[in-house]
Amino acid sequence: MFPPPSSSPSPRPEERATLLMAADTAGIKLAAARLKAGGLVAFPTETVYGLGADATSDAAVAGIFQAKGRPRFNPLIVHVQHLQAALAYGLFDATALKLAHAFWPGPLTLVVPAVSDRISLLARAGLETVALRVPGPDVARALIAGAGVPVAAPSANRSGAISPTSAADVMAELGGRIDMVLEGRPSAIGVESTIVAVLPGGAMLLRPGGIALERLREIVPVGVQQDHGTRERPQAPGQLKTHYAPRAGVRLNATVLRPGEAGLDFGGVLAGASFDLSPSGDLGEAAAHLFRALRDLDATGVGMIAVAPVPDHGLGLAINDRLQRAAAPRGA
Ligand code: TXA
Ligand code: MG
Repeated sequence: MFPPPSSSPSPRPEERATLLMAADTAGIKLAAARLKAGGLVAFPTETVYGLGADATSDAAVAGIFQAKGRPRFNPLIVHVQHLQAALAYGLFDATALKLAHAFWPGPLTLVVPAVSDRISLLARAGLETVALRVPGPDVARALIAGAGVPVAAPSANRSGAISPTSAADVMAELGGRIDMVLEGRPSAIGVESTIVAVLPGGAMLLRPGGIALERLREIVPVGVQQDHGTRERPQAPGQLKTHYAPRAGVRLNATVLRPGEAGLDFGGVLAGASFDLSPSGDLGEAAAHLFRALRDLDATGVGMIAVAPVPDHGLGLAINDRLQRAAAPRGA
């Protein structure tokens, strides 16, 4: 039986020696073998680093939840090599096909009706839909191809923490809890994929991310979900209110720095800030720097991070979504 949803913390993960290897031919080959054998392997994608496991294995997928300390009601994105492979697991109507053709490989996840029992119900959190994505980097797709299985992969951080955009971030988050980290380039996009549900009612944005809503709407009409669900019944459960949380507090829309705060600027408006996400006001550049900057400022031990206003269009939608969650009171 599928275990009942539970928000209680998973049992302590077993200790594992975590191997760090460059994402060259030998590294990819070993990582693929580890995945195939049921191991936990972190790998680079263009959005953030993912923590991968064989999506067809309940035991391997359970390992992801355990290593991350992730609530089990939170379903995972299944990564595949190409659209052809995705068609084996999900039902793609004309709208879904248009989006896949326009943006895959790339930072778009499509939630579609599941058509196969091969994907672990644990990865789907018992839902009748499945989240599918074809990641951009050759390294990621070579890994999936080598493993020969669909790869379930959430961001490779402890549940609730800031998503990793480099192999070093992954080691800091999950070293000793997973089998291997495949080290590639830092993630170029820097925020997670845009998630769109394409169900009989049409296309609906579930999570803003690396592809701007405006770009999706050039291809098909896309609605925006207002109801983010509840803790018991999350719509896109990465959408829990507290997420991406640094240890420090986060104050949004800051135009002046208060004593004791570290400043995170955008477009050169916050005098005395430690870092500017994009001095020229480029939202893509800001997204790419966001998690790195939060992580680095947090590491200084400062009590409060004050963040300048970021416009709410293009990738700004994803940036503000992550910032609001980073700023939400703990336990929300
Ligand atoms: O960019 C990304 O998407 C990264 C990289 C590694 O690919 N992955 C990622 O996964 O962000 P994760 O697990 O942190 O976020 C998965 C999101 C969650 O919000 C989850 O609730 C949603 O996808 N999701 C997965 N399956 C779903 C489903 N069947 N229906 C609705 N939402 C789903
Ligand atoms: Mg995540």
